[in-house]
Amino acid sequence: MSAAWTAAAPAAESEDIIKYRQGVMASVGGHTAAATQIVRGKVDYADDLAYHAESIARSMQTVESLFPEGSDFGETRALDSVWSKPVEFKQVSEKAREATKAFLAAVKANDKAALVDEFKAMVDACKACHKDFRQKEE
Ligand code: HEC
Repeated sequence: MSAAWTAAAPAAESEDIIKYRQGVMASVGGHTAAATQIVRGKVDYADDLAYHAESIARSMQTVESLFPEGSDFGETRALDSVWSKPVEFKQVSEKAREATKAFLAAVKANDKAALVDEFKAMVDACKACHKDFRQKEE
């Protein structure tokens, strides 16, 4: 559901959507990088793990919405396959959604062993989408 104040906004330009998409992805990447340090036991911020997990899960809940038709014009690393292989794209999105939910559930349950496993599965789900739908870095 759109917030009321966005209702009158004109259709967003492709380049603006790309910037938004990259901003959301970058934030997910930041939360994942921070969570990695906690999950590996390198730092003592365990109380923050739920907030990182919640933010990642929230972003993945609607990840497909970051890729509307026509948002491929501009400086983007999204591959054409996002739009030409919608069934596969939906599958990797769904997988990432489920994986992030499972990670969040394990964090909330304070289940150390499970959260380590679910964290790995989540990162694999990110990679699975990037492998087929994101251009490699040059
Ligand atoms: C359904 C596919 C998909 C999933 C799932 C996904 N990503 Fe992405 N991600 C992309 C695509 C496509 C791009 C390139 C977007 C662009 O350049 O327009 C991207 C870009 C990024 C970027 C670079 C952002 C920037 O600054 O340009 C980071 C970091 C990132 N993703 C992290 C993650 C993490 C961490 C996860 C898992 C929690 C994840 N992504 C899950 C498709 C996905």
